[in-house]
Amino acid sequence: MREQYVIEGGQRLEGAVSVSGAKNAALPLIISTLLTAEPCRLTNVPDLEDIAVTLRMLGMLGAKSKFRGGVLEIETPSIDGTVAPYALVKALRASFWVLGPLLARVGEARVALPGGDAIGSRPVDLHLKGLAALGADIRFMQGAVVAHAPGKLRGAKINLEYPSVGATHHLLMTASRVEGETIIEGAAREPEVVALAELLIAMGAEIEGAGSSVLRIVGRDELGGAQIEVIGDRIEAATYLVAGAMTAGEVSVEGIGKDAMQSTLEVLSEMGAELEAGENSISIRAENRLKSAAFSTAPIPGLATDVQPLLMAAATVADGTSVITETVFDNRFGHVAEYRRLGADIELDGRTATVKGVAQLSGAPVEATDIRAAAGLVLMGLAAAGTTEINEIHHLDRGYESLTEKFCSLGAKISRTPVAEDRELVFGC
Ligand code: UD1
Repeated sequence: MREQYVIEGGQRLEGAVSVSGAKNAALPLIISTLLTAEPCRLTNVPDLEDIAVTLRMLGMLGAKSKFRGGVLEIETPSIDGTVAPYALVKALRASFWVLGPLLARVGEARVALPGGDAIGSRPVDLHLKGLAALGADIRFMQGAVVAHAPGKLRGAKINLEYPSVGATHHLLMTASRVEGETIIEGAAREPEVVALAELLIAMGAEIEGAGSSVLRIVGRDELGGAQIEVIGDRIEAATYLVAGAMTAGEVSVEGIGKDAMQSTLEVLSEMGAELEAGENSISIRAENRLKSAAFSTAPIPGLATDVQPLLMAAATVADGTSVITETVFDNRFGHVAEYRRLGADIELDGRTATVKGVAQLSGAPVEATDIRAAAGLVLMGLAAAGTTEINEIHHLDRGYESLTEKFCSLGAKISRTPVAEDRELVFGC
């Protein structure tokens, strides 16, 4: 049966929540365990649909895993399959990153091309150029990349024309299992890349420069098992902080430090929220209506594109006109139509959204279009007058662990129920 979230808006949120391990850090860490035949142990792994899909994917390639209570024990003693089918890659784009590890370990792979999605065209050219520089022979066949490593892959100099997070993860993990030195220039600097480098170093690779735009990797022909704790989820943390700010509340998030969230905190502060940030917790307080702001997304140290829909939600109720520019993805305003259903006043012009804050949103049935758009709708539902029903909530299951419990603990009125229409449908024969 389809489910939806039902929110009775207008509650002031107050209290503390612990952030879960970051989905976007856990995914590359889990995929990297394909690089070794030895057991690996990951802790603080969030229990999410995206993690389940990744484990299913790795299972098809030969991995054996046990996941319980946030602890993942996983090993791939031998590679039993080299094909990543379209259904799995479409469900989870990160599955595409198995291509490099399979090539490095067994010299062949066939991985479906992910294609575009709700937030943009999302090509993988940088991934493929990098793998080709490492010596892969890459062809396209029936919607898939069919790759071979004639001889062996070898270290190389790679220049990423754009600091793609996915391409950096993919090439960093592959280069760690390839003999020789690889230099990646123009690398992504996100904290999830630093976390991946930490695991690969623990597995035996030599890596310098993680967190900067130049990575130097000396790979090994064999890597060993390792263990690591997944870092806290900065996007989940932003979601609860914005919820506090939008409901004139007082919310603390624990398990995340200010360093990972600098640009988000700057925007929230510009919007008039009071923030207190430490090494492992951040608190927000907003007594009055938020103020408008102007901001633009960019790779780190810029504002993360994943928080754009969340901050736009805040802008819809702020006093004044906010101007939001999306530079990372080419179609990341898909949520605007649904935000308007809740009463938001937003005009779009290419990659810029002009948001005139309204005094009050009003609850309505809405449909989520992607993970962060879905989270933005939850935030708006919490601030709106009346009832909001959010449909297509499988998007939230991909990235938010214990969402109902966490929001309820802050005083929100939110529940997960069978879709109202389905409850009312009477089937005849
Ligand atoms: C990752 C995150 C996602 C986040 C994004 C940007 C995961 C699982 N997902 O996605 O939540 O929003 O980083 O911080 O970690 N591009 C190319 N060619 C390529 C690769 C990317 O043109 O080969 C473009 C993309 O189309 C996009 C931009 O680069 O416009 C950024 O994409 P990228 O950083 O690769 O994002 P993902 O790794 O897909």
